[in-house]
Amino acid sequence: MVVTWAVCRDGRLGEKMREVNSVTVTTIVDNDVWEKSFSSSWGISFHVETFKKNEKHAILMDTSGSFESFYKNTSKLGIDLTAVEGIFISHWHGDHYGALNQILPLVKHSVPVYVPSVYSSGIREIKNGNGNPVVCSEPTEFIEGLMSTGEMATGISEHSLLINVADKGLVVLTGCGHPGIINILKRARKTSRVDKVYAVMGGFHISDTNSGVEVGEFLKELNVEIASPCHCTGYDARNGMAKVVGEKYVRIGSGKIITIG
Ligand SMILES: [Fe+2]
Repeated sequence: MVVTWAVCRDGRLGEKMREVNSVTVTTIVDNDVWEKSFSSSWGISFHVETFKKNEKHAILMDTSGSFESFYKNTSKLGIDLTAVEGIFISHWHGDHYGALNQILPLVKHSVPVYVPSVYSSGIREIKNGNGNPVVCSEPTEFIEGLMSTGEMATGISEHSLLINVADKGLVVLTGCGHPGIINILKRARKTSRVDKVYAVMGGFHISDTNSGVEVGEFLKELNVEIASPCHCTGYDARNGMAKVVGEKYVRIGSGKIITIG
């Protein structure tokens, strides 16, 4: 079987990213729960819903590795999977795309799956599930107000998701943050041409207190309003960051819903 894929190309490259009026980010699966009745598993999955006038768009950012947790939590949250029109996979690690093959049959036929790079067995899995692999090697606004940073290949190939919310700024969602959270935020501002970073959520891939303090200071300098490290971010790093950013630190976990805008 010949495995083919599309390449994500942004006809608007070089222009400022477009806006949405608001976004609701729901943490479907995380290592920790926000509320006891939800299920947790090592990995991450967000449901991202954007609103602009009468238009709304819904995508998944990562699937976690546990279909069981994913399915239990989406059912509890009342998330309509048939309305999901795209799946964004931050990187090819099992705790981020492991449940994809079980989720694909539940979403729209030939849904685009935005991936950072070509990984043959992953691409084949998407095609077998009637998904449509789209490789985001370059920064791309694939839906109005939703953008991939493009592949950042620092050891592990990964891309992050940007949402530009009117009057607020960028909401940056990271999978594991392997390229480094500071590098990701620099890239996010540059490619979107939006200076203000309003919120950062996801795996920050740091573990010790000093790294947490360093990232916290960077976020403070940028005036980031919501800092929500989760998944692979060590607890010492989280505490270090929280000490620096104070009430801007917002804890998240499976079941947490945040609306911005
Ligand atoms: Fe991870």
